[in-house]
Amino acid sequence: MENKKIVIGNQKIYMSVNEVGEFLKEITGKVLTSNVVICPTTLYIPYFLKHRYSVGIQNVCEYDVGQYTGEVSAQQASEIGLKYALVGHSERRSYYNEDNDVINSKIKNLLKANIIPVLCVGETSEEKNLFKTKKVLKSDLISCLNKVSSEDIEKIIIAYEPVWAIGTKRIPTMAEIKSNVAYIKDLIKQIYKKEIRVIYGGSVNPNNIEKLNRIDNVDGFLVGGSSTKAEEFLKIIEVVVNQ
Ligand code: PGA
Repeated sequence: MENKKIVIGNQKIYMSVNEVGEFLKEITGKVLTSNVVICPTTLYIPYFLKHRYSVGIQNVCEYDVGQYTGEVSAQQASEIGLKYALVGHSERRSYYNEDNDVINSKIKNLLKANIIPVLCVGETSEEKNLFKTKKVLKSDLISCLNKVSSEDIEKIIIAYEPVWAIGTKRIPTMAEIKSNVAYIKDLIKQIYKKEIRVIYGGSVNPNNIEKLNRIDNVDGFLVGGSSTKAEEFLKIIEVVVNQ
């Protein structure tokens, strides 16, 4: 397991092709490290690969191969040179009805294809208010990781992303993040006797990154909106990876 912290950018479908060009110009020469991963809109992936960035895909198909119009398989993603894939993101869960079984299939396909799955889990605001956060984390993790071997578990990164913190400019307290990250790590350790990396995501930005980066059990960050603005993304990288 690598010790260095990782920053993963999730650019969703925010940018136009011209904005991607500008973004690439602005970050050139500043983030060539394997500890910074960019997950562009799928269509733009080749631009980032061409510039030798470490690139991830925002989603893959739950099936290996076949008649699945519009999808990309884990194997195809691997062949083009992708090293990471987001899976279980709350936007996929809520807008595309992805459940834990689908997420579990995707994780297994990714592992088979040698891609690191970045599994997103986190509570909704309703679950938080009902004090169900840890219960939700536990049941989602157990279902999503069903039949993943203890050898493979070490390859997975878990992103703790409270659903209510995504794109809202609201984040949990530092103590809440620390406690939920510790809970995830302990759970995996209990089940698999292995240590895994857990990162935090949800409204990470240049103004809160120094504070977030001081939480000592967090292994990095998943950044949405701020990863689409070169200046903001570079500031986050500066604090987390370059220091
Ligand atoms: P955000 O998104 O940083 O814009 O809140 C995070 C994510 O969706 O992974």
